[in-house]
Amino acid sequence: MELRLPTVIGHRGAAAQAPENTLAGLRVAAEQGATWVEFDAMLSADGVPILFHDDSLQRTTGRDGLVAETDWRVLRELDAGSYFGEAFADERVPSLAEALNLLLDLGLHPNIEIKPTPGRDVETAVRVVEVTAEVWPRDRQAPYFCSFSAMALAAQRALRPDWPSGFNGLRHEADWQERLRALGCGAYHLLEREITPDLAATIKAAGYGLVSFTVNDPARARALRGWGVDSLVTDSPREILAALAA
Ligand code: G3P
Ligand code: MG
Repeated sequence: MELRLPTVIGHRGAAAQAPENTLAGLRVAAEQGATWVEFDAMLSADGVPILFHDDSLQRTTGRDGLVAETDWRVLRELDAGSYFGEAFADERVPSLAEALNLLLDLGLHPNIEIKPTPGRDVETAVRVVEVTAEVWPRDRQAPYFCSFSAMALAAQRALRPDWPSGFNGLRHEADWQERLRALGCGAYHLLEREITPDLAATIKAAGYGLVSFTVNDPARARALRGWGVDSLVTDSPREILAALAA
């Protein structure tokens, strides 16, 4: 399948300018000129895909407990904005369906990171694919998935082999190409400090997309692009777009 990657992808929305994984963050990413946004899709205890990064509720909602042990009816009421700033106190934990509907309104494209809590890799992928299939119109560019979980990516591909995906790595591994091939991934997502000019050239010569995260330094952004990196996942889309245009 054809994989068309953008130059800049907003990270968890636009995580330096708005609370991560919230509807406000998606809106800010669009205002800043991003055309794609990355966000994390995790399951509530009762199996509803929501936008959330950590296993624990503490950092972004101030509440004790685990996402995997909390039902959607509770999660949906939590304040997911005050941790970032009082101006965002009305932000709630969004469901994946709410987020995708907003992206359609905003004309933004989703990079859905399947983010399973421990032991829920396949279940998370299945529910994320089900909800995305319900909401995302067939006549739009296919939604794009990524994950650190090989099990989740395999499940996504088994259900929807027509939807493109990328394999996330915090460390570059020598067997990267076998992993991507086995999972049918068209792109390799790597922690930006793992990427060297030689490695970028090797990955691009092998025909794969290369996505780096998380790139917030303008000079680094220009260097990575110069080495052939396709996409920069950033907390500050406006700043990085401006750096690349300069
Ligand atoms: O796709 C890159 C990004 O999602 C990876 O990291 O931890 O911010 O979800 P994280
Ligand atoms: Mg993520």
